[in-house]
Amino acid sequence: MQIVRQLDPLRDALAAFRQTGAKIGLVPTMGALHAGHMRLVEVAMEQCDAVVASIFVNPTQFGEGEDLDAYPRQEAADAALLEAAGVKLLWAPTADQVYPDGYATNVSVSGISDGLCGAARPGHFDGVATVVAKLFNQVRPDAAYFGEKDYQQLAVIRRMARDLDFTHDIVGVPTVRDRDGLALSSRNAYLTEEQRANAVALPDAMREAANAIAAGGDIADILEAAKAKLLGSGFHKIDYLELRDANRLAVLDIFAKPARLFAAARIGSTRLIDNIPVS
Ligand code: PAF
Repeated sequence: MQIVRQLDPLRDALAAFRQTGAKIGLVPTMGALHAGHMRLVEVAMEQCDAVVASIFVNPTQFGEGEDLDAYPRQEAADAALLEAAGVKLLWAPTADQVYPDGYATNVSVSGISDGLCGAARPGHFDGVATVVAKLFNQVRPDAAYFGEKDYQQLAVIRRMARDLDFTHDIVGVPTVRDRDGLALSSRNAYLTEEQRANAVALPDAMREAANAIAAGGDIADILEAAKAKLLGSGFHKIDYLELRDANRLAVLDIFAKPARLFAAARIGSTRLIDNIPVS
């Protein structure tokens, strides 16, 4: 596996792949890879001839006081995993290859970026949309792979790609969970043993709420009960717990398919997010 940090050698390597007619798949990441990322790689390997993974901890998607400095960085271990999985090229750009001196452009996807994590983390999705647009232009993949765990991010990227005429496929891959149901996340590494044990309350409360909503219960009451359960199980703040339309992400006061339940909640200093279908 080649590890490339500068744009010129990246373009040379990609041109060589293209010359063979290879379908190129891109798996964008911020590193600290876990089985959820490796599932994206696996799906990309099934669908493409040459898989490129990127690792770039993108500063513009972190707000003030967020975990940019603490975000786990373990490139050697990540590279070993990617190489073993068959990835052909790791694009691990230096910061100036993404944001050159005097960088002044921002990609902002209005509407779909506004609620949920967009409300709790102002500017976050501008940072995501900007860096992903740049990665798309740098790699020019035939398909790009993102986890449904970050469902709003996936929706923002789909809308950005459509609006800016990126024509490659955007493939969403279902969330990978630990055996007890907690969605895999690089941020799970921040949890103490006790917090990790308590964190399972999040998928448990969501599953219970989703079942109750699908059975026709009162949505507001069900969501309040789920929040109370979380606050009684070690979580100290719920950023949101909402039922939304799965496509447009509009809030649903009345259950209508396709619907999804979205949650973000804080346990210790860690903010966990999750989403599940309600059907
Ligand atoms: O999901 C992530 O890891 C990041 O938000 C992404 C898509 C790589 C952009 O920095």
